[in-house]
Amino acid sequence: MFLDKIAGMFSQDLAIDLGTANTLVYSRGRGLVCSEPSVVAVLDKNDGKGQRVLAVGHDAKEMLGRTPGSIRAIRPIKDGVIADFEVTEAMLRYFIQRAHNRRKLARPRIVVCVPPCITSVEKRAVRESAISAGAREVFLIEEPMAAAIGAGLDVTAPTGNMVVDIGGGTTDVAVISLSGIVASRSVRTGGDKMDEAIINYVKRKYNMLIGERTAEAIKMGIGTASTETVTSSMEIKGRDLVAGIPKIVETTSDEIREALVEPIHAIIETVHLTLEKTPPELAADIVDRGIMLVGGGSLLCDLDQVLRDETKLPILRSEDPYTAVVHGAGKALDNLSLLREVALG
Ligand SMILES: Nc1ncnc2c1ncn2[C@@H]1O[C@H](COP(=O)(O)OP(=O)(O)OP(=O)(O)O)[C@@H](O)[C@H]1O
Ligand SMILES: [Mg+2]
Repeated sequence: MFLDKIAGMFSQDLAIDLGTANTLVYSRGRGLVCSEPSVVAVLDKNDGKGQRVLAVGHDAKEMLGRTPGSIRAIRPIKDGVIADFEVTEAMLRYFIQRAHNRRKLARPRIVVCVPPCITSVEKRAVRESAISAGAREVFLIEEPMAAAIGAGLDVTAPTGNMVVDIGGGTTDVAVISLSGIVASRSVRTGGDKMDEAIINYVKRKYNMLIGERTAEAIKMGIGTASTETVTSSMEIKGRDLVAGIPKIVETTSDEIREALVEPIHAIIETVHLTLEKTPPELAADIVDRGIMLVGGGSLLCDLDQVLRDETKLPILRSEDPYTAVVHGAGKALDNLSLLREVALG
């Protein structure tokens, strides 16, 4: 107890959004201190036993798809769940130490945001990873709850709020009232599936292979969800599948919209299915208050418009869709009674 208090005096408490695509860290009193890709580059040891972490975050993402045989760039969180615990722990430790300017002594209280469908085994694993990465106390908050707090919704009120978080790995839809999630649904479709859909489309249409990073750049550059978006075009580079040499083609936003039909349909369907499960009183609240979009995927051009047309509900986009989750968790960190109310047991 006493030692805990001393440790608390020397370390700033942290909130961490451990995302499929990006990890964000909020430090109490300092705000957002770190936002980096959730990528770790590891070197496999010669003896085949274990691995050494070479780089984390931006530096590691640069290596994705460009590594020689012995180095692997890993994304330890796939489809919104931890796929590689060892690497996730290494990544957590790196981010915690970075937030504390590499002071090894710091033992912060940490809030970690987790997917709403997390199993108890996964919960324990996240807790253990955070503890062994240096935390003195760990709280888990479901991402949609954190997103709602971050987007400024009053989650403790007896009113229904719907949040749709379109991340890299998953889209999480949740209805929140009285500090709890009343109805929710997740689908393993988000930004990554959109990138994959673009890769497959370009392969079919142009007989050309492009990498994940190129696909993401196309999506952000000219991708759209709606037929009504003004057409634009973009030159893309890749490898010709027949001749085997690099080539350049020009693609248009219409083509990319066509490529994205399936993942976008999956997202809309998930929203519909959650609305169907929502108790009527809360559904009535959502008609008045609308749906709050968060997550990087919600930035896809005209996705909000398509959701508006499909649901006939008001669609709002949070001011900063990337950071809503971590800021919500940060607000909970600043308000201990709120934190205890919304944290998972
Ligand atoms: N302008 C944009 N248009 C389309 N997609 C975008 C845009 N900006 C970012 N994205 C996508 O948003 C995704 C990342 O969003 P975010 O950081 O919210 O995910 P995450 O929290 O790491 O993932 P998850 O919540 O599934 O674990 C990436 O797939 C990225 O390509
Ligand atoms: Mg997220």
